Amino acid sequence: MWKAALALLGLGQLSSLATAQVQSSGNAVKVKWLEGTPMLNSGTTFGLPWARGQHPSNGTTFTASYGTGDQVQLQSWITAYWPDGSIKWSGHAISGAETAHDEYTVTASNASSAGIRRRAANGTSIQVTETSDSVIVDTGKISASFPKSGSVLVSSIKTSTGKTVGRNGRLILRSQSGVSEDGDASGISYFKFGSKIYNATVSAESLVRALVTVQGIHQVDGNSTATHNDWLPFTLRFYLYANSYAIRTVHTIVYDGDAKSDFISGLGIRFDVPLAGDELYDRHVRIAGADGGILHEAAQGLTGLRRDPGKAVRTAQYNGTKTPNKSTWTTGVADHLQWVPAWNDFRLTQLSPDGFNIMKRTKAGQSWLKIPGGTRAGGLAYLGGATTGGLAVGLRDFWKKYPTSWDVSNAATEEGSITLWLYSPSAEPMDLRPYHDGLGEDTYEKQLTALDITYEDYEGGYNTPYGIARTNELFIYAFDSTPSADHLSALTNHTNEPPVLVAEPEYIHNTNALGSYWNLPGATSNSSSAATIESHMDFLVKFYQDQVEQRRWYGFWDHGDIMHSYDTDRHTWKYDIGGYAWDNSELSPDLFFWNYFLRSGRADVYRLAEAQVRHGGEVDSYHLGNFTGLGTRHGVQHWGDSAKQVRISTPVYRKTFYYLSGGDERTGDLVHEVLQSEKAWVLVDARRKVRDPSVVYKPDPSALYLDFGTDWAGVAAAYLLEWERRGPRWEEARDKLIETAKTFPQLKFGFVTGEALYNSYTGAWAPPPTDPNNNGTVSVSHLSAVFGVLETLDQLFAHYLETPKPFIDAWLDYCYYYGASKAEQKARYGKDFGSLSLRQGHSRLTAYVARMRNNATLAKRAWNEFLNDDSPDELNPNDPWKTERIDGSGVLVPVDEASWITTNAAALYGLGGIENLALVGGPEGMRGGNGTVGE
Ligand SMILES: *[C@@H]1O[C@H](CO)[C@@H](O)[C@H](O)[C@H]1NC(C)=O
Ligand SMILES: *[C@@H]1O[C@H](CO)[C@@H](O)[C@H](O)[C@H]1NC(C)=O
Ligand SMILES: *[C@@H]1O[C@H](CO)[C@@H](O)[C@H](O)[C@H]1NC(C)=O
Ligand SMILES: *[C@@H]1O[C@H](CO)[C@@H](O)[C@H](O)[C@H]1NC(C)=O
Ligand SMILES: *[C@@H]1O[C@H](CO)[C@@H](O)[C@H](O)[C@H]1NC(C)=O
Ligand SMILES: *[C@@H]1O[C@H](CO)[C@@H](O)[C@H](O)[C@H]1NC(C)=O
Repeated sequence: MWKAALALLGLGQLSSLATAQVQSSGNAVKVKWLEGTPMLNSGTTFGLPWARGQHPSNGTTFTASYGTGDQVQLQSWITAYWPDGSIKWSGHAISGAETAHDEYTVTASNASSAGIRRRAANGTSIQVTETSDSVIVDTGKISASFPKSGSVLVSSIKTSTGKTVGRNGRLILRSQSGVSEDGDASGISYFKFGSKIYNATVSAESLVRALVTVQGIHQVDGNSTATHNDWLPFTLRFYLYANSYAIRTVHTIVYDGDAKSDFISGLGIRFDVPLAGDELYDRHVRIAGADGGILHEAAQGLTGLRRDPGKAVRTAQYNGTKTPNKSTWTTGVADHLQWVPAWNDFRLTQLSPDGFNIMKRTKAGQSWLKIPGGTRAGGLAYLGGATTGGLAVGLRDFWKKYPTSWDVSNAATEEGSITLWLYSPSAEPMDLRPYHDGLGEDTYEKQLTALDITYEDYEGGYNTPYGIARTNELFIYAFDSTPSADHLSALTNHTNEPPVLVAEPEYIHNTNALGSYWNLPGATSNSSSAATIESHMDFLVKFYQDQVEQRRWYGFWDHGDIMHSYDTDRHTWKYDIGGYAWDNSELSPDLFFWNYFLRSGRADVYRLAEAQVRHGGEVDSYHLGNFTGLGTRHGVQHWGDSAKQVRISTPVYRKTFYYLSGGDERTGDLVHEVLQSEKAWVLVDARRKVRDPSVVYKPDPSALYLDFGTDWAGVAAAYLLEWERRGPRWEEARDKLIETAKTFPQLKFGFVTGEALYNSYTGAWAPPPTDPNNNGTVSVSHLSAVFGVLETLDQLFAHYLETPKPFIDAWLDYCYYYGASKAEQKARYGKDFGSLSLRQGHSRLTAYVARMRNNATLAKRAWNEFLNDDSPDELNPNDPWKTERIDGSGVLVPVDEASWITTNAAALYGLGGIENLALVGGPEGMRGGNGTVGE
């Protein structure tokens, strides 16, 4: 019992320590730009954590200032609450401005007025006008209108001078019922769809930022004779900031087709651009090429002609400014313009991550003309006139999400258009069918045998893309006149790396709002052994960044994932071998990278982890259908494996991003989907193939047979987030967590029980069917604690200070005994745990109990497990810690390989390294001491 008391003391110490450190500076928090001060500040949103008890949610005012105290407009809201009602996380938006300042200070004042107050320094505010038909948002720089029904998402975009520069923003989808082999297309039907809007809503608070959310589905175009049901539901979120001419757009689709008969052959968004007010030669087309390059074209060229109109005319056209009056041109040009072809259509196609082609034509029915292409297009296109103004659209990660393309069309007519193809119609149709025919694996027995050779867990019907999603991020920019190429080049950067404001690692750490298991490099140990671990973790981060590029882990569905293991013979990742291919967050690389970012503040790591957020939560998880809330185990196709579990979709992987981004709404939606896994568990029994057939189990919502780590921990992460943010299900979520904390320790062997019966109505646990009398079951899996359970529990303990001691003790027992000797296990549980792997990854559990029980001997044990694990899924000091260049005829293209690395090992090395250092200091001894602190 004294141990339990100490454990609680440990917790108290942790939080009071954090509180003490924060009090001195907690009211004024600095935020800085992730990648340094950007050239453009189009308005941004960010999040800040606050220590428990500092700022009451009903009486805190936030202001923001820069430099010597000049205020900037700030809109603030609460994204999470501590249980005592104080603010845990806040979200903030700043408006667009001519200059971005190097840093801002956000100050929280505990005011007596009720409610969180919006406060703004002088400046433009957003004006929102909502009618029964539409939402109109005026930022001061632009005004955009969003219909609530029909087929048009953005009916107009006007500049502040009243020019309409964009119209009829709408979605486009093309699909076909089959794919042709050998060019034989007979029997294939082709479909064209537009958007059908269900609803458009606007955020309640819109002082600095307005968020318009449009939901709908794709519907066959009115004039089409082909029939197809409505499909591919979408959610588009438009973020508009005061004083900004940019609209950040988050575009989400969910695939709800049949992979065998619904092949997407084009997915895009199109805007019309009025051009009538400018002569053809004053209409400009700009498309971002590689390395900041911009294509300069006009609908009718005045340069290079046999007769020179004059330098001023040529330069103006090239620069995008209005050409001097025709009367000033050299004679013989203006009156011959009818013979100079006008260019109507421009097309850029990025069908691979390595190259784009670009071409133009005078009109449909005439040949395309090739324009020299390049490598990786920046992903921005502009169409407009020197005086009528125009529109630019940018897609983030344009080439990384290939096959993508641009169509800039009808530049020579009264109204042109820009189409961004998120999936290019020039590419092969998207083929989401299984990559093999099942290989006759029609029984569990055969499937398990196949698993033995390819590591693929196959089962017919489970390899379905039905319900997976993809989210893309776009920017729409409106101009009164054609902007300079430099400006468009800067916007291309802005589109690809939207500026992010973040607090400093030390501040975030001290609030204890995101786990106590990470700390700043050097904060707990400066020893050379700690420095070695730091350099190894740095090596791993860099290795994966480089592998993404060298192995071309890019593409519409693939961007953001990494691979699982390596084929040393072929010098390639096992992209085609069953369970060894796409990683789908196996053993938590996401947590490694996010924790690594939190402690270092490194921009490159943030971007790596952010791409994972947009991948794992979308493509590797289900958003519709029976699997909603579950994710898919690693495999050749992201959705192919038959193991559908919450361990992949768990929001613990996306929580850091969610809060740092000020509550990214799409990520917030995913939390609700994971809550629905309670329903999916009734339909999908995760251990159906491996459970002893003598166990009778019929899934029932009040008695779900779950693993605490691979099942419950994921939904627990969702419950905790819902509780923290006080989402619509927060009280239910809280009550279930509390009920679990009460009932779980009643299992005789606590977490060592492994799997037991979970009542998804109440959160209560009961003994497994194999041990109805609760005599004690030992069933320990190496997988239970490598999908975020420690991290979720630690966050829960820090959140819910009243967590019952027996629950914490049960967890600490699991932490202690996983790596304990078989003799100790047997003495405690009457039976040892058998041969367990992933000791290195579990060293952080040992470190956790060492920290909580202030036990230096255990700290040593943790480091011993971390440094001296000798199994395939570990990395150790004697590994090479360098890559080897492979080139020449041995490989397709030169690569750097580290055949001694598996992603399982890398993820757990990173997680263990970070957590052990934070919890118990360096390998040389418990933090601050030489192993002298102990029981
Ligand atoms: C805030 O809420 C607390 C708890 O409900 C209450 O005691 C306090 O008076 C409230 N403060 C304000 C400023 O409304
Ligand atoms: C806003 O501007 C008005 C008029 O210029 C001035 O009186 C007021 O003090 C300003 N407020 C702030 C918060 O700067
Ligand atoms: C919009 O419509 C969809 C489909 O009917 C519905 O599920 C969703 O709740 C609606 N959203 C709002 C904000 O009304
Ligand atoms: C349908 O045809 C009419 C008349 O040709 C045309 O004006 C309209 O734009 C077409 N609609 C669609 C969605 O293509
Ligand atoms: C064209 O642009 C360049 C570079 O921005 C500038 O130096 C030059 O003055 C411009 N010329 C005209 C005629 O606008
Ligand atoms: C775009 O970003 C790159 C890389 O950060 C930088 O070198 C370049 O100067 C930027 N270009 C513009 C126009 O801001």
